[in-house]
Amino acid sequence: MTEKVTASIIKADVGGLPGHVLVPEEILEVARRNLQEAKESGEIIDFRVFNAGDDLDLVMTHREGVDSEKIHKLAWETFEKATEKAKELKLYGAGQDLLADAFSGNVRGMGPGVAEMEFTERKAEPLLAFLMDKTEPGAFNLPIFRIFADPFNTAGLVIDPSLHSGFVFEIWDIMESRRVFMKTPEEMYDILALIGGKSRFVIKRVYPKEGGKLPADEPVAVISTEKLYKIAGEYVGKDDPVALVRAQSGLPAVGEVIEAFAFPHLVSGWMRGSHNGPLMPVPFRYSKCTRFDGPPRVIGAGFQLANGVLVGPVDLFDDPAFDLTRQKAMDVADYIRRHGPFEPHRLPGEDMEYTTLPKVMDKLKTRFEEV
Ligand code: 13P
Ligand code: 13P
Ligand code: MG
Ligand code: MG
Repeated sequence: MTEKVTASIIKADVGGLPGHVLVPEEILEVARRNLQEAKESGEIIDFRVFNAGDDLDLVMTHREGVDSEKIHKLAWETFEKATEKAKELKLYGAGQDLLADAFSGNVRGMGPGVAEMEFTERKAEPLLAFLMDKTEPGAFNLPIFRIFADPFNTAGLVIDPSLHSGFVFEIWDIMESRRVFMKTPEEMYDILALIGGKSRFVIKRVYPKEGGKLPADEPVAVISTEKLYKIAGEYVGKDDPVALVRAQSGLPAVGEVIEAFAFPHLVSGWMRGSHNGPLMPVPFRYSKCTRFDGPPRVIGAGFQLANGVLVGPVDLFDDPAFDLTRQKAMDVADYIRRHGPFEPHRLPGEDMEYTTLPKVMDKLKTRFEEV
């Protein structure tokens, strides 16, 4: 037990209605009931349950720190109960992300995605949760970079003395399971050289620099980086990511965080996890992936923390200020869809989650002639 607060998002796809469109109310209700019990017994301080398309996202606050066996077990059991219900309803891909038969101390590597950070709650603590569907962890690279390092997005980097010295980025190489800490603004170009390759290098956490307003050892942003195909060794669903971002007073303002999502950048995922498409920010009510199982979407939930209690959520993209972004996303979706099976709509072979290419090549083996 510690006096610091921990915010955790633990998420899994336990089944979709229909196909991969969304998590139905029956499943959300199972999760809420289970977490409500945990709240009443004092295991967690507070919680909210969301669906990002077909992903069930548990947002929890507690005092157990990150990687707590207690909290991970609670999430795992919640997913198990939700899976039971999903099987009863014969939802599509029921239990899809629960890759292990039994819980063994930590959900990492067992299928669910995790974004957690422990920090000292400030006098006022704005906390924003971003939840995506039909894409991969690297989808957060562009917005997180822009929030904490791009002066054209975040005015505070230029005009607020408490942000002016920049931030530290923890970047993971998810292919080689290694990480590197890099500083902005001084290493900005090197950082971009890595994270522009978003299927391999992903931003895991952001920290304040030493000597600033906030403790340099407490993260200010964290992103889930689980890669399901690496865990299972074969395609079992996309690793739809989530993130937590703290804001204000030494950090980017809430509006500077949200601004980074005003450009619907291209991400990979979408149909069968094998296509590029625009990331569309939507209100909670549109958190369902329909057209060609998409396009990829993000919802934003805004909270203030009050001694660990979640005040909110505010539905951050439920705003006509994002209508143009959505319009542009749909224009891009329409344009790129017309490429059908051609790259760069379809992902290059090595990034595809489904592929018939080896079989096609095998069939043609004897018919290929030397040229
Ligand atoms: P207020 O003056 O409304 O507190 O806003 C300050 C701020 O940081 C806006 O981005
Ligand atoms: P999910 O990763 O959201 O389950 O979607 C998988 C898919 O195949 C969509 O077409
Ligand atoms: Mg699914
Ligand atoms: Mg999903």
